[in-house]
Amino acid sequence: MLKKVAILANGGDVSGFNAVIRAIIKTCENNGVECYGFIDGFRGLLKNDIVRLATSSDGNAVGILPKGGSIIGSSTNANVFNFPVEENGEIVYKDLSDICVENIKKDGIECLFTLGGDGTQKSARDLSLKGINVIGVPKTIDNDVACTEITFGYNTAVSVATEALDRLHSTGETHHRIMVLEVMGRYAGWIALESAIAGGADVALIPEIPYDINCAARKIMRRQERGKHFSIVVVAEGARPKGGEMFIKNKRNNGSGVDNTKLGGIGEQVAKQLEELTGLEARCTVLGYMQRGGSPSAFDRVLSTKYGSRAMEYALEGKFNILTVIKNGKLDCVPLEDVVGNNKKIGAVSGNTPESNLKKVTMDDELVRTARAIGINLGD
Ligand code: F6P
Repeated sequence: MLKKVAILANGGDVSGFNAVIRAIIKTCENNGVECYGFIDGFRGLLKNDIVRLATSSDGNAVGILPKGGSIIGSSTNANVFNFPVEENGEIVYKDLSDICVENIKKDGIECLFTLGGDGTQKSARDLSLKGINVIGVPKTIDNDVACTEITFGYNTAVSVATEALDRLHSTGETHHRIMVLEVMGRYAGWIALESAIAGGADVALIPEIPYDINCAARKIMRRQERGKHFSIVVVAEGARPKGGEMFIKNKRNNGSGVDNTKLGGIGEQVAKQLEELTGLEARCTVLGYMQRGGSPSAFDRVLSTKYGSRAMEYALEGKFNILTVIKNGKLDCVPLEDVVGNNKKIGAVSGNTPESNLKKVTMDDELVRTARAIGINLGD
């Protein structure tokens, strides 16, 4: 009989973190299992910073369903298999995973739930190879985790981007401008594509389709000729011109252990080029962290609750080293090994790199077909 489990939230936050945490705690409570949380993701696991979680009236997990963020924090850039440590005034990278294994064993944790994206699940898989029972739950606004149809947090991000597009529509129409919205998504164009359809955009530029800016400009000029004196353009932060590179804002460290590239800046560039090519005024809005903060959508609350409760049920069934996924619209699980895919090397760069096993938009996806069918220009 399972007695003690713990949750760890890792990577960039999303709306829905708390809904998953709550669902795991509640399913624990209904089955007489104690639930704990490591504070600030893998960093908390390294320091053994652990708290008991409870939804009872005096508990610390009361009323958290609609709350943004994570009540147990989250850490970005924390790969315990290749962690920065200061030695003689210099930063060196070390495999500290044995400390994590020791802490989990010392605390008597029989299953660790890892709420995170590709990088987190890679570390989870690597911990499982060291004998720890883990169950992953796929998180990220980018919707790019392999083997699942949808990650929690994604729907809220798309809703925020859609609302932004609605607002840009009215100001763009009033001032006869091209309104460019830069959205997140890293190396995948899901947020851009889905919000472009939901928000009635005219152009959507995604990483999976290197764009020709002249194509986008032609689309805008055709609208102009038909008496439509404003246009809406969605640009994914990872979009790049044909033969060109992605826009990298900065690099956070020497590249060891984590994906260190911060993307951004492509929106301004696209706006400038469209202004030059069309002679129309263009403005760029970078939506940024608005996509991750705040209350989850109803869809994400339900999805997160389904994910969290099913993950705990898998633990009760003794099914470990898996990722809880949605397959053909239904809850299911797959071995973590399948998720991590070709991103196999322990200790090397964690997930979310252009080389890792990310789920990207494919050209036969219904969203691509739908966008093309209704005349959204994809820059090609
Ligand atoms: O992966 C989620 C995400 O929000 C990406 O869309 C974005 O590129 C990145 O995280 C931003 O990361 P950070 O929080 O480190 O700035």
